[in-house]
Amino acid sequence: MPELSPDDFKRLAAAKALELVTPGMRLGLGTGTTAAHFVELLATRVAMGLDVICVPTSERSRTLAKLHAIPLTSIDASPELDLTIDGADEFDPKLRLVKGGGGALLREKIVAMASKRMVVIVDSSKLAAVLGKFPLPVEVNVFGLEATRRMILAAAKACGCDGEVRLRKTPGGQAFVSDNGHYIVDCFFGAIPRPEDLADRLDAIPGAVEHGLFIGIAKAVISAGPAGIEILGQLD
Ligand code: A5P
Repeated sequence: MPELSPDDFKRLAAAKALELVTPGMRLGLGTGTTAAHFVELLATRVAMGLDVICVPTSERSRTLAKLHAIPLTSIDASPELDLTIDGADEFDPKLRLVKGGGGALLREKIVAMASKRMVVIVDSSKLAAVLGKFPLPVEVNVFGLEATRRMILAAAKACGCDGEVRLRKTPGGQAFVSDNGHYIVDCFFGAIPRPEDLADRLDAIPGAVEHGLFIGIAKAVISAGPAGIEILGQLD
């Protein structure tokens, strides 16, 4: 049997998550390559008559879901959801996540927290004993960018993190602008020894609209890798 790629594992995790979907559910649809697998697999069930209504976490996911004829609504029309399925850039054994590599962290957090359950789908390479190897994204207001960047650096220092805080750029060299019209800074800390402490400190910075630390939000992580599918937390 040919060796499976990380992308194959992402699809396996997405397929496992699809088992959680039941008729009539209001679903949050994540953003990223793993969530895209879920959207595609969900579309096959919808084509067979599954009745669901979905809220996408980004314009990119909205476009993809629309392309696949998945019934969509907005978070305003459906402010309470049953289940959100989304990817992550890192997860740890306590189900703490780093998200936002795709720049959709604000909507992802709003949608996840509006859901009774958030289940994360990943390939097993996303497991981290200590979060922070993946640069932590922070969505920041355009006004006061440099002041906010310095406040983030100071907050990080106060809880044992050190490293560059860099404005995210597009491949063309322009500042990346989120779906919400904000910038993103990526924090290259290497390690975040106290994620709760850092999250609290980032929450207190006015120009930091939202950060990519998801703590106490995910109910379960479905992780697929060479050893098979592992479930952390509770799926139901
Ligand atoms: C999007 O902003 C992110 O939070 C994604 O969920 C995360 O980057 C995972 O992406 P992949 O599924 O593409 O690895």
